[in-house]
Amino acid sequence: MTAALIAEGLHTYYGKSHILHGVSLEAGEGQVTALLGRNGAGKTTTLRSLMGLTAPREGRVTIFGTATTGWPPFRVAALGVGYVPEGRKIFPNLSVEENLMVPLERPGPWTIASIYDLFPRLAERRFNRGRQLSGGEQEMLSIGRALLLNPKLLILDEPSQGLAPLIVREVFRIVAKMRAEGISVLLVEQNVRMSLEVADHAYVLDDGHVVYSGPADELAADEARVQSLAGASAEEWTPQS
Ligand SMILES: Nc1ncnc2c1ncn2[C@@H]1O[C@H](COP(=O)(O)OP(=O)(O)OP(=O)(O)O)[C@@H](O)[C@H]1O
Ligand SMILES: [Mg+2]
Repeated sequence: MTAALIAEGLHTYYGKSHILHGVSLEAGEGQVTALLGRNGAGKTTTLRSLMGLTAPREGRVTIFGTATTGWPPFRVAALGVGYVPEGRKIFPNLSVEENLMVPLERPGPWTIASIYDLFPRLAERRFNRGRQLSGGEQEMLSIGRALLLNPKLLILDEPSQGLAPLIVREVFRIVAKMRAEGISVLLVEQNVRMSLEVADHAYVLDDGHVVYSGPADELAADEARVQSLAGASAEEWTPQS
């Protein structure tokens, strides 16, 4: 497997709080890699560390063979890494179309017109302001904005959060479509079962440690583990190497 992204031994802090304790993971090229774990496990912090939004104090990040440790987010993005942050972070006072005009554009198949083809709902609402959109529409806008970078690697932080079941299906359909188009995807999700359906490989994070790494279908078959994750119960994970 060729890796789109490799993280080795990341230690990340917020002030004095030590959050990531040596996180290592790989996102395979052309694959969907799921990063799962309970609330507060460190999933968002891992993505922020990879993007350069919160620099790790120790460890290394390699993206498409380039060492990116210590790089600022815009340089990481310029390598072709699209990031859809938790909570979407669209501009509330800008229209849909203006929101789509914000990102740095890299040449490729994704244009504002093709985003409107993928999400006809956004085309209908192109002159509405960000704050007037529903949660699902905001998610589509956030994903659309990341696609305009024509990413080779798409990093999604809980894209299905707070969405109605039908829209959740739509989000996972899009993830599968990205994979079919050859885009590597690193997916953070609370929706464990659906993530494992679409993913090739899965990692589970607990308290800033990777406690599981394996094929997604293997984890999906482990009903007890899936239940403890999906139910966010206090059940302990047995660390594996
Ligand atoms: N800006 C911050 N300052 C201090 N501590 C933070 C900050 N952001 C997150 N934390 C702490 O770091 C830990 C990991 O948080 P993180 O957001 O990475 O978890 P998560 O796995 O993404 O959780 P969730 O599923 O709720 O999004 C938590 O204990 C959280 O309280
Ligand atoms: Mg999070």
